[in-house]
Amino acid sequence: MNEESDRKVVRGLKDVAAAETRISFVDPKGYLYYLGYNIDDLVGRVTYTEVAYLLIHKRLPNQQELDEFCTDLISEMKLPNAMVKCIWDTPGHVHPMDVLRTEVSRLGEYDIEYKDLSEAANMRRATRLIAQVPTIVATLHRSRMGQPVPAPRKDFGFAENFLYMFEGYPPKEDEADVLHRLLILHADHGFNASTFAARVTASTNADMYSAATSAIGTLRGPLHGGASEKVMEMLNDIGLEKYVDEYIQGLLDEKMKIMGFGHRVYMAEDPRTKHLRGIVENLCHQKRTLDLYNKCIKIEEIVHQRKNIYPNLDFYAAVAMDALGVPKEFFTPFFTSSRIAGWVAHTIEQYEDAVLLRPSSKYVGEFGRTFVPIEER
Ligand code: SDX
Repeated sequence: MNEESDRKVVRGLKDVAAAETRISFVDPKGYLYYLGYNIDDLVGRVTYTEVAYLLIHKRLPNQQELDEFCTDLISEMKLPNAMVKCIWDTPGHVHPMDVLRTEVSRLGEYDIEYKDLSEAANMRRATRLIAQVPTIVATLHRSRMGQPVPAPRKDFGFAENFLYMFEGYPPKEDEADVLHRLLILHADHGFNASTFAARVTASTNADMYSAATSAIGTLRGPLHGGASEKVMEMLNDIGLEKYVDEYIQGLLDEKMKIMGFGHRVYMAEDPRTKHLRGIVENLCHQKRTLDLYNKCIKIEEIVHQRKNIYPNLDFYAAVAMDALGVPKEFFTPFFTSSRIAGWVAHTIEQYEDAVLLRPSSKYVGEFGRTFVPIEER
């Protein structure tokens, strides 16, 4: 009847390669590479700012380039006053991801060079987005506490400024170290759903703010970046470690998903997990909350035993962010504050690829229905 109805549907686009990319490689065997660097060689050895530079410039910076990039980022962190007011005026019940989605879209209104779609202008835009998304998150957090966000300090690095603006006090060295690791581990991840959404939007030659807004709406869902908040709810619901077995079995009996577990690509453990598990173990030692760490290990063991699946990024990231003092509704905004670097890198790569992403579908509806005018229906 129709050519499209003969098409084979690849449900969930599983294993479909939608485009070529040089930005990151998610190896199903359990490895992750940013521009060819194994993340294990980056975490703890570079700052998040170096990784953000790597993603958009496709190479690591030398010291001078890094210093300049850091200065640029810090000088771009300030938001227009009208935006700060909008953030303060947001009703308290609105989820921070909804505010972030709206405000990132609004950033586009303040782009004075919006008509310039050159590569150089897009690179400036990418830098501004990497700088301003964390400021939106920090401003919202401070406003919900009734406090203004402090201005970024030139004597702090970019990530340190994010934490300083979010918490309102200068971060300790070990907190900054945890933050860099967290941001690096969240920065990019192949054609995950939100990155794909950004690329689809960019493929129509829409602007970078539109691509970022699409991506934020996609990251928000609990099957993607929204999972971390659910992980924290589950950990709180479980209570003591001795209840883990019964709780997890209850979810599995109800055919419910265990949040923070499973992955579309990895057949082995997510390579980010060992770093995050280590961070959580250290933080729990410091804070004398080892019972929480032990509970996580127990959940891992039981879920692996019963479903043969591993924790994904969101499981231990939730616990690490909680230990940093981040309220759970700000977990996904924190994720966004890092992933924005990946999204803008992919948006630029998609512009270079210059092809419209427009799949087909298999029509399974009816044909030949007899039209009935409204007055006869
Ligand atoms: C992120 O893709 C990325 O790159 C994303 C991400 C990134 O960096 O951007 O890594 C970050 O978003 C991590 C994902 C966070 N989401 C969750 O933690 C939600 C819980 N997990 C899932 O629902 C699930 O594992 C997905 C969404 C992550 C992956 O889903 P798939 O590939 O569509 O797999 P599926 O749901 O079809 O599951 C396959 C099987 C099923 O069992 P069977 O029917 O074959 O017996 O595995 C089971 C599922 O029931 N399964 C789970 C499970 N995840 C998979 N069972 C219980 N709990 C789970 N979490």
